Amino acid sequence: MPVDKQTIHLIAAARPNFMKIAPLYHALAATDWATPVIVHTGQHYDLNMSDAFFQDLRLPEPHIHLGAGTGSHAEQTGKVMMAYEKILLQTRPDMTVVAGDVNSTLACTLAATKLVYPEPNIHGRSRPVVAHLEAGLRSFDRSMPEEINRLATDVLADLLWTPSPDGDEHLLREGIAADKIQRVGNIMIDSLEMMRGPIEQAGVAAELGLSKGDYVVATLHRPGNVDDPAKLAQLCDMLIDTATELPVVFPVHPRTRKNLSVAGLLARLEQAPGITLLEPQSYIRFMSLVFNCRLVLTDSGGIQEETTYLGIPCLTLRPNTERPITVTAGTNRLCNLGNVRDALDQVLATPPAPAAPPELWDGHTAQRVSDRIHQALTTT
Ligand code: UD1
Repeated sequence: MPVDKQTIHLIAAARPNFMKIAPLYHALAATDWATPVIVHTGQHYDLNMSDAFFQDLRLPEPHIHLGAGTGSHAEQTGKVMMAYEKILLQTRPDMTVVAGDVNSTLACTLAATKLVYPEPNIHGRSRPVVAHLEAGLRSFDRSMPEEINRLATDVLADLLWTPSPDGDEHLLREGIAADKIQRVGNIMIDSLEMMRGPIEQAGVAAELGLSKGDYVVATLHRPGNVDDPAKLAQLCDMLIDTATELPVVFPVHPRTRKNLSVAGLLARLEQAPGITLLEPQSYIRFMSLVFNCRLVLTDSGGIQEETTYLGIPCLTLRPNTERPITVTAGTNRLCNLGNVRDALDQVLATPPAPAAPPELWDGHTAQRVSDRIHQALTTT
């Protein structure tokens, strides 16, 4: 390896990050100027929340493990900051790329932007350039931990890569300099296209005895939905009601499983006719379920985007979304417990429309990002 290659840390922390860094890892690994280094913070650590994604997305073992694990927001953020600062001092990378809006995104941004290396690295840099992939998204709901992470990360990062025009607009309105903002498109779509073959071959619905186009995929994990036992009970009733219409397959996030269990609701769902509870699925298996379903019921961020790209109706159980393009241009609809049944009936009464992906959601975002990184690191 030539010593003058640029070292680029890709921060992988929690499940939604893995499909964002995978295409970029592969694009950078194919260049002759970059050494991509995967730094796993350990925010998600279970086999099925982390390792399975590395296998599916053909990523190598993380090069660096921070082993931060779980904790309160301050604990988790603090543990990642402390561990990552040590790594930064030992390895003095040229760039740190953080993705999305999880606690580790903010933690690594804080550690990297505040640091001064005791000695500049071989390229004369005294700290890494920090870039945020999926910048500019806003739900305008500061009760969401992710919104705090987005706001703070964007104010600190040196380069802001946005997926859609609303991202650029939010950043400009917040006073971010225009020359930091670069619209690159939606990198999750790169993972989807990269894995389309295996996804189409996986046949998970058939394995579960479900017919193509004739079942609902449900995912719920947002604290605002699953941490309050009364709300969680209402969501269970909603799923049981939905299953009287179409079978429901529900891969259960660890946060949700824990809360269902504590609230005594798990057995009720397990015994409900038409509901299949699963462990969190790997990327390929989960996307196989989504590719073939009639509609998705979710509170996830990324799934709103994947369904928009695929043209699959998505009912999002949240009062707001940081991804409004999925509502204005895509297949997403914001719902609450009071109107979700009507929305479901409307979807079932409407023939599926062809997909209309937003601009730059084209499977080539990683290449655009790689080009931007090269430009940034060779001109600064
Ligand atoms: C985190 C992100 C959220 C993202 C979600 C996707 C933050 C603030 N939230 O939420 O933006 O949409 O990931 O999954 O960063 N747990 C396990 N096994 C694991 C991981 C977590 O059992 O592999 C448990 C933890 O012990 C904890 C709970 O799940 O009790 C929640 O984990 P945490 O990382 O706090 O947040 P998520 O709800 O997963």
